[in-house]
Amino acid sequence: MAARAPKSAESPASGTPPTVLVMGAGNIGSWLGGCLQAAGARVHLVGRPRMLLALGSHGLTLTDRDGGQVALAADRLQLHDAVPAGLRPDVVLLCVKHGAAASAAAELGAALPPGTLVIALQNGIQAADLAQAAAPALVVLRGMVPFNVAELGPGRLHRGTDGQLAAQTHSGLLPWLPWFDAAGMPLALHDDMLPLQWGKLLLNLNNAVNALSGLPLRAQLLDDDLRQCTAGLVSEALFLLRHAGIKPARVSAVRPGMLPWALRLPTPLFRLVARRMLRIDDQARSSMADDLARGRPTEIDAIQGEVLRLAGRLNQLAPCNARMTQLVRSWSPRSQPISGRSMRKFLNL
Ligand SMILES: NC(=O)c1ccc[n+]([C@@H]2O[C@H](COP(=O)([O-])OP(=O)(O)OC[C@H]3O[C@@H](n4cnc5c(N)ncnc54)[C@H](OP(=O)(O)O)[C@@H]3O)[C@@H](O)[C@H]2O)c1
Repeated sequence: MAARAPKSAESPASGTPPTVLVMGAGNIGSWLGGCLQAAGARVHLVGRPRMLLALGSHGLTLTDRDGGQVALAADRLQLHDAVPAGLRPDVVLLCVKHGAAASAAAELGAALPPGTLVIALQNGIQAADLAQAAAPALVVLRGMVPFNVAELGPGRLHRGTDGQLAAQTHSGLLPWLPWFDAAGMPLALHDDMLPLQWGKLLLNLNNAVNALSGLPLRAQLLDDDLRQCTAGLVSEALFLLRHAGIKPARVSAVRPGMLPWALRLPTPLFRLVARRMLRIDDQARSSMADDLARGRPTEIDAIQGEVLRLAGRLNQLAPCNARMTQLVRSWSPRSQPISGRSMRKFLNL
């Protein structure tokens, strides 16, 4: 079932509501926290000044592609610039970027009781391990957010794609699942998250293509040349995954093994085959596009970098992903968007 902004009339789950701490109130953190709060959970948002100022002045408005809308007034939000002393959350959603996961986890580890459950929701593969190493007394679980959330304005977040939230199985999460259901974003538990994380990573290989193209996600996916670039990146990763014996799970409408084939179809055919994949709002864009626009570090090392590390472990090369990494690293906020044709040329495709 797709995550959606809950209607305010939706009935909350019964029983004592959980206390949820969101570490990293950015796009994903504020979205998940806002949906849970609208469903009745007690949510604390820990964030940085830019977002705290926006939320403190404008409140939080969540919209989604299904027409859902929820608004939380600023005075209903519990905003913090650090983990509040003495808080005993039932669950922590670690929603900082991959590169900040270890330091944020160390802050959590210093402030929260041992055994506190933390779901690491970063794209990429290693964030949960890095967070666990930085906060050994906490229990860090792998998580995965399949949908896209973009900031439309101060305190205004929009979910532009679908998919089911997932986390590693843990009995401590079971009492809180009804609250995720009530929040319109059921949480599926999986014993082994690695196939799902790789399935998501294959899709995230498109983030760099999208960011460098300067186009919204849907428009970018309807460009033949840009799709060829993503297909090249995904084919290379699939080849390595087969060698490594890792079977990526299906996260989108198209099975992982079929992605390069679907992406290489001419646009009219791609539109037909990938109808569900193209159920994307015109406003959706990859968060890497925001990072590049703001001159912030990107997650290229957690995404393309993971493919390069896999290649290294297998004594193989991943030239297409290596070139894409180089392209993103050399980009500056003064750079011009890159056309599909130029990108293909650079990637040797
Ligand atoms: N956005 C999406 O659509 C989407 C979808 C699926 C998965 N994801 C994954 O979810 C993760 C978060 O993405 P996002 O788009 O939500 O990123 P984001 O908007 O940048 O949110 C992260 C927020 O955490 C803040 N932060 C960093 N360290 C912190 C700390 N120690 N304490 C408090 N706040 C801290 C960041 O502030 P600064 O910017 O000042 O560091 C930023 O405001 C990423 O791994 C991303 O790949 C995102």
